[in-house]
Amino acid sequence: MERIFFQPGPTTLPKEVLSRAKAEWDDFEETGLNIMEHSHRGKSYETVHDQAKERLKRLMDIPETHDVLFLQGGASLQFAMVPMNLLESGKKAKYALTGSWSEKAYKEASKIGQCEIAISGKDTQYRTMPSMDYQASDEDAYLHITSNNTIYGTQWPDLNIFSHPNLVADMSSDILSRAINVSDYALIYAGAQKNLGPSGVTAVIIRKDLLHENEKLPNILSYHIHAKNNSLYNTPPVYSIYLLNLVLQWVEEQGGVAEMEERSTKKAKTIYDVIDASSGFYKGYASLESRSLMNITFTLENSELEQQFINECEISGIFGLKGHRSVGGFRASIYNSVPLESCEKLAKFMVQFQEKYGK
Ligand SMILES: Cc1ncc(COP(=O)(O)O)c(C=O)c1O
Repeated sequence: MERIFFQPGPTTLPKEVLSRAKAEWDDFEETGLNIMEHSHRGKSYETVHDQAKERLKRLMDIPETHDVLFLQGGASLQFAMVPMNLLESGKKAKYALTGSWSEKAYKEASKIGQCEIAISGKDTQYRTMPSMDYQASDEDAYLHITSNNTIYGTQWPDLNIFSHPNLVADMSSDILSRAINVSDYALIYAGAQKNLGPSGVTAVIIRKDLLHENEKLPNILSYHIHAKNNSLYNTPPVYSIYLLNLVLQWVEEQGGVAEMEERSTKKAKTIYDVIDASSGFYKGYASLESRSLMNITFTLENSELEQQFINECEISGIFGLKGHRSVGGFRASIYNSVPLESCEKLAKFMVQFQEKYGK
């Protein structure tokens, strides 16, 4: 039986990417080596590195004003690097709190400099995105947002509501799933392990005027140093970037971000429709207007059936649905690599489960 997966991250990679990596496993382009056995200063790896950078630029239409960095330490290191590099003394960093990851980003930044909460959705238990009634002020170093809240299953439906001269976005769980205007951002970061590839590499897109030399910062934490060295200041995560390049190539071959956006909308609708038609048997966690197209969170009206739901899913070959411990219930993560057919199978399973156990 074919297994299908809905993990929140790391998640599955496109089958075509795994097949290509397998074919090149012990002989990358007739060099007799796996790419990860190559020097990061050699031609073979440098080509892969530059291709990945150029592909991301093409796919996201990244303007010349911005640079692309490939860093390590996950999105969590960016929670610290952003304020270390962008929060000058005398200024304040502003945070939009929309879930656990933005709370973590805010707490980390508070250790480094002065921070304030600009808007918050906490009073709705993060079911609803807060209204955007925040005006940029001269004291702001930047405004930090999280475009998609992986744990609660909420997402800003329209990113155009933010007009801040220094907008910083954690796009770890929805990058490349919808078109955005990169010029609107001072900095975008995303851990790769959802829509970009495997864990181990984090993409950072930064406006070049923010790349200041700062002698007080350790080199490894400085965007300026990484940019000056084309992300080759120290040994990069060679294999992760190789897989990232293959995933980006796959996205291009599928039709780019516009195609991913169309697919995401269709995939999410397939599952949300079942929840909405279930007369309360399934309950969506997020408010309708804040629903994520990447992480679908739901519970069962009868919580005693939860273990049964997971057991029967697994018998049917469906895995990775257990919700995060802070929300409970279930979460179907439907990143770019998850095909529509998997969502249709899950939707069908959910209908059958309700037929069997519903009143
Ligand atoms: C939106 C968001 N930000 C940050 C993180 C943390 O990423 P990492 O584990 O790469 O540090 C995650 C992880 O799931 C996430 O979903």
